[in-house]
Amino acid sequence: EEDERTARIEAALAELGDDVVILGHNYQRREIVEHSDFIGDSYQLSKEAAEADADYVIFGGVTFMAESADIITDDDQTVILPSMEASCPMAGMAEALQVDAAWAEITAATDANIIPITYMNSYADLKAFCAEQGGLVCTSSNAHRAFEYAFDKGDKVLFLPDKHLGENTAHRLGMEDEIVEWDPWDPESADPETAVENDIILWEGYCQVHERFRPEHVEQVRDEHPDANVVVHPECRREVVEMADVVGSTSTITQTVEEADPGETWAIGTEIHLTKHLSRWHPEVNVLPLCGDACMDCNAMRQIDPNYLTWVLEELVEGRERNVIEVAPEEKELARVALDRMLEI
Ligand code: 13P
Ligand code: SF4
Repeated sequence: EEDERTARIEAALAELGDDVVILGHNYQRREIVEHSDFIGDSYQLSKEAAEADADYVIFGGVTFMAESADIITDDDQTVILPSMEASCPMAGMAEALQVDAAWAEITAATDANIIPITYMNSYADLKAFCAEQGGLVCTSSNAHRAFEYAFDKGDKVLFLPDKHLGENTAHRLGMEDEIVEWDPWDPESADPETAVENDIILWEGYCQVHERFRPEHVEQVRDEHPDANVVVHPECRREVVEMADVVGSTSTITQTVEEADPGETWAIGTEIHLTKHLSRWHPEVNVLPLCGDACMDCNAMRQIDPNYLTWVLEELVEGRERNVIEVAPEEKELARVALDRMLEI
């Protein structure tokens, strides 16, 4: 069945030629990355999208990534997401309307200039909101630079939606004493007046996949493999990041394994598909999932089934555009400002 599908994908791609480019995030299934022209982290894929000149950009990833590709590509280029069900739950944890209401509260509580930074894992309307308030977008590979940009321009940062990436970045910058978690809808959480006494205000969002890594997983892998090195994504909890040997984006994780000496052992604290790719790509390195048998699988990324890739490509051959991701023009312009600020830092 897989051979037949591969043949169909290849036939469609041969027909479409340079009209199509396929971008695949590191967390995509093997069958998707095998057909991708570029494989990378969120930052690299947004740069590839910006530089692509194909008429169609097929995105192996989740909705917010395809939206960002649409924002960054030219108006005559079309972005296609093979499944419309591929929505990152973390992006849904900071909806622009909610943030707008919370922003009114937090800015009323201080005269200081707060700069909002949104993680790439958010929808276009929130990116537009951040641009409007003088803020920007970041990914896990440049969050520290986005913080530096914000503190250059203003006094305080509101970081959305990932509290763990925010906390880990604050530690990286030696600003761990300046952080507060703020959930405007939780009566137990700090009130706005208390929150603004701190310089880094963290929105209450998180990744359901990375939050499941625990210090016990690190202890267990080191017990079982005393020579193991541990590399984790900065969406993991602080306690886990503190125990790791290396922390970084999915491209840093990939590079770490690429640069490992033969025979070294690396336990990988991120979505399971990347761990599986690394173990296939680098048989000379002993690549292990950090969590043993517990499967850290991102349901949103998994929605991009190779059968859907086949379908969108074959439909394009027939002249039909399916699953087009199009950001509303009024949001697009501002969201682009927030993304361009990131690409410039
Ligand atoms: P990267 O930017 O490191 O590729 O991460 C994207 C993501 O969704 C992590 O969960
Ligand atoms: Fe979203 Fe987490 Fe999946 Fe990344 S791994 S797309 S942050 S749910």
